[in-house]
Amino acid sequence: MTKCGLLFACVLYGFLFLSLAAPESASVTGVPGFNGSFPSKHYAGYVNIDDVNRKNLFYYFVVSESDPSKDPVVLWLNGGPGCSSFDGFVYEHGPFNFEAAQAKGNLPKLHLNPYSWSKVSNIIYLDSPVGVGFSYSKNASDYNTGDLQTASDTHAFLLKWFQLYPEFLSNPFYVAGESYAGVYVPTLSYEVVKGIDDGTKPVLNFKGYLVGNGVADEEFDGNALVPFAHGMGLISDDLYEEVSTACKGNYYNPPTATCQSKLSKVDEDLQDLNIYDILEPCYHDNGPKEIVDTNIRLPSTFRKLGETDRPLAVRKRMFGRAWPFRAPVRDGIVPTWPELLNSLSVPCMDDDVATSWLNDASVRKAIHAEDASTIGSWELCTDKIRYDHDAGSMIKYHKNITSRGFKALIFSGDHDMCVPYTGSQAWTKSVGYKIVDEWRPWFSNDQVAGFLQGYENNLTFLTVKGAGHTVPEYKPQESLDFYSRFLAGKPI
Ligand SMILES: *[C@@H]1O[C@H](CO)[C@@H](O)[C@H](O)[C@H]1NC(C)=O
Ligand SMILES: *[C@@H]1O[C@H](CO)[C@@H](O)[C@H](O)[C@H]1NC(C)=O
Ligand SMILES: *[C@@H]1O[C@H](CO)[C@@H](O)[C@H](O)[C@H]1NC(C)=O
Ligand SMILES: *[C@@H]1O[C@H](CO)[C@@H](O)[C@H](O)[C@H]1NC(C)=O
Repeated sequence: MTKCGLLFACVLYGFLFLSLAAPESASVTGVPGFNGSFPSKHYAGYVNIDDVNRKNLFYYFVVSESDPSKDPVVLWLNGGPGCSSFDGFVYEHGPFNFEAAQAKGNLPKLHLNPYSWSKVSNIIYLDSPVGVGFSYSKNASDYNTGDLQTASDTHAFLLKWFQLYPEFLSNPFYVAGESYAGVYVPTLSYEVVKGIDDGTKPVLNFKGYLVGNGVADEEFDGNALVPFAHGMGLISDDLYEEVSTACKGNYYNPPTATCQSKLSKVDEDLQDLNIYDILEPCYHDNGPKEIVDTNIRLPSTFRKLGETDRPLAVRKRMFGRAWPFRAPVRDGIVPTWPELLNSLSVPCMDDDVATSWLNDASVRKAIHAEDASTIGSWELCTDKIRYDHDAGSMIKYHKNITSRGFKALIFSGDHDMCVPYTGSQAWTKSVGYKIVDEWRPWFSNDQVAGFLQGYENNLTFLTVKGAGHTVPEYKPQESLDFYSRFLAGKPI
């Protein structure tokens, strides 16, 4: 936004920050692969977050196509840990749909995405923590990080970012993310609220947050798979009865050898499914079937992940945006995806469209990302970082923030087996809030798009029927619908 919609606010913020408008040097006026004109302004670049000029976080900012001066500002985060938020930009709800290049070496063609979340919000895609995507530090010791450091760094980013874009400071502000960002989002929201309490400047107009198929709590998430598999008809009634009796509901920490052996039978039934969407086929290759040399059992589904059915299906295989099932996130050092898979050459390593586009020198130049010669190639998920899950369960964070009047939408693609909806449904209920909108269908395009349950304190749990792990990738129209209604404060 170079012209101010809100003159008064502009003058006021200009006075406070001695800056009148978004930095022109960050402006993105075109990108290779796209011929048309952008429906709204785009900006991208680095924000340095420390005094010694080491840590540089990369963002891509898409201004709203509706009413930039009033629409919310949303920060989007993909998970991993170690995965770039360009996953969301390229494959989920970014301004473009990417059409895979016909010939190898050509760039993908870009079309406008009719369901871009920039239709109703100003949205920032942030590569976080440093070491991920295009973000980097001049000192590699910064790649040793964890939940608490990441939340504090991202908060520092936000304070600086809003100083660069002061005209957006009065807009409602939300944080959103998916998968391991189920940890990033509440820990960051907590930092933001603490900053507001402490009088940190600038004051962020924080309103709430959204989490999709997010990691939340090791026990709830770890216990979610067996009931999911039973409800979806993937294991027999008999096996379900045996495994529940043997484990007494404790699948996460198998109490006995009998429980353990029943769980192995469950794994056998599930291992050839696409864990990101049990309805989708798997990508088959000629690689070895089992991954060896790791102490976490990984299903063979990791090596042959599925295709999606979008009109412009770009992703042949999915890798690394989530957590392996039966290997729920536990406290301590989280192995990165490449680490989990590094014993063999990994055929599912990259996502071709994003990787070819973001590693093209002309694309990097257009979006103001550093050269590969300086910071290396862009990878969907990196093993550069060493990451400590040091914030524990997220339930205490959700409780704290929602009880203070900030609203939360916990959404879940109900065919995802990676972070199954059964876990998210159970932990949201466990918060203990009164039900104010009892389990009911919600609609998109006159069809049932999923189900929701509303709790007091504006906490909502919502399923998206038929969607996999990365919800907007599978159900773009339905996703834009619930997203718009949530942000507008309307019933979903
Ligand atoms: C953009 O224009 C070029 C040259 O006119 C053409 O080859 C290319 O196919 C166009 N791309 C798209 C996405 O329309
Ligand atoms: C990198 O940071 C670490 C920790 O702050 C410090 O001990 C080390 O000297 C730094 N290295 C360089 C090359 O600046
Ligand atoms: C939330 O956390 C803050 C900071 O630790 C604490 O002061 C406050 O009492 C907590 N609020 C609730 C409702 O738990
Ligand atoms: C829920 O959010 C609305 C605004 O969207 C607010 O007016 C209301 O007070 C909130 N309710 C609670 C219980 O926090």
